[in-house]
Amino acid sequence: MTLGFPDGFRWGTATAAYQIEGSTTADGRGPSIWDTFTTRSGLATGDPACDHYRRYREDVRLLSELGVPYYRFSVAWSRVMPDGRTVEPRGLAFYDRLVDTLLEHGITPMVTLYHWDLPEALQAEGGWPNRELADLFADYALTVHKALGDRVRQWTTINEPFCAAFIGYGNGDHAPGIQDEGAALVAGHNLLLAHGKAAQALRSNGGEQEVSIVLNFTPVLTDVDDAAHREAARKFDFLHNRFFLDPLLGRGYPPELLADLAHLGTLEPAIADGDLEIIAQPLDVLGVNYYAPARAVPLEDPEADSNCPLPGLRGMDVQPPRGELTSLGWEQRPECFTELLVWLQEHCDGLPLVIAENGAAFEDEVIEGRVHDEKRVRYFADHLAAVHAAIERGADVRGYMAWSLLDNFEWAMGYTQRFGLVHVDFETQERVLKDSALFYADVVARNGL
Ligand code: FCB
Repeated sequence: MTLGFPDGFRWGTATAAYQIEGSTTADGRGPSIWDTFTTRSGLATGDPACDHYRRYREDVRLLSELGVPYYRFSVAWSRVMPDGRTVEPRGLAFYDRLVDTLLEHGITPMVTLYHWDLPEALQAEGGWPNRELADLFADYALTVHKALGDRVRQWTTINEPFCAAFIGYGNGDHAPGIQDEGAALVAGHNLLLAHGKAAQALRSNGGEQEVSIVLNFTPVLTDVDDAAHREAARKFDFLHNRFFLDPLLGRGYPPELLADLAHLGTLEPAIADGDLEIIAQPLDVLGVNYYAPARAVPLEDPEADSNCPLPGLRGMDVQPPRGELTSLGWEQRPECFTELLVWLQEHCDGLPLVIAENGAAFEDEVIEGRVHDEKRVRYFADHLAAVHAAIERGADVRGYMAWSLLDNFEWAMGYTQRFGLVHVDFETQERVLKDSALFYADVVARNGL
């Protein structure tokens, strides 16, 4: 049976600047929080990653060989404005060349302005808990739009504000590695504000464009369907998913969520008059990242802190993932993807959706020049079928970006987790198409499974 996708469905692959570019000091680039965090923590750094800054032409040729027509990449703020404010023309010129090269190969560029790599100079001013960053981000967005807006139509302001705020400033597993739950909530609000101001800035520069934000969604499962379990799941869902989604839709923060977080005492004072209107700029499309669900259980003591490292959560815990896991330990549940998309369609009143990331890390081996990554092929097949099922049930999904084009620097996990359709040998920088790349190219060519 063939599962056909709608005409004009946008097939793509996705990457992010810090995960692939390397060349972290080239052409005047300033340090980002990921340079300082990894160096300070003794972790692997984003140098050389995939050496994409120097090899981008080769990588664009790969994309064109695969026949995948859309490419989602991010711009590094610290290349374009090393101190967060002053333009470095050589950094901007790189993205200019990249966009031209993509277009020469018939590939449509999709730009993400912020994929977690804040200029260190702005962290020195407090980072995202400092609301002044929202204005600086809007200036940066306008600068990039002035340089690329004549050729780029699809603009995403921020990738996964949840991770940038809650993992960066809450449990500190990500850069800048700060552990301050109250500050993490403020960072989350300021990232939403930055999105709203950047959306206004992008639109102020004219031209036809599609403005989006990319959120990572984690559906919540429970073993028991009773009031206590439902409440545990609600708490997780509201903090993980609705904290970001509802204000973007113009509904503000849900009152139950504000009550859940009241004991930290930081979020409500951070919401200034007019902020919620700025955050609620109309979205042309919503970017959806889906990898895995979470499992929630109630704690007997409603005041007890959660073991789940989200700022302010109390009275609930998360349970270990089950069944077949990816090498990152993520549970594989394609059916949750379908339910998520159907729910989003209703909750967002029909806003068009684009899958901005979906994929899986497994241990791969190059044998005689081939990578037989059956598990990843199956992951993509199952998750694409799940997207198809959601479309059949009425979800307006316009596209799918596979994460990721290349094996790359997987944040705090360094080079241990391979998500690529293309295998990268980080010593020699040799690229080898995995079986999953050939599978995906075939799906794209047939516009179906
Ligand atoms: C997402 C990130 C992306 C990548 C994948 C595996 O949360 O946006 O950069 O690390 O997870």
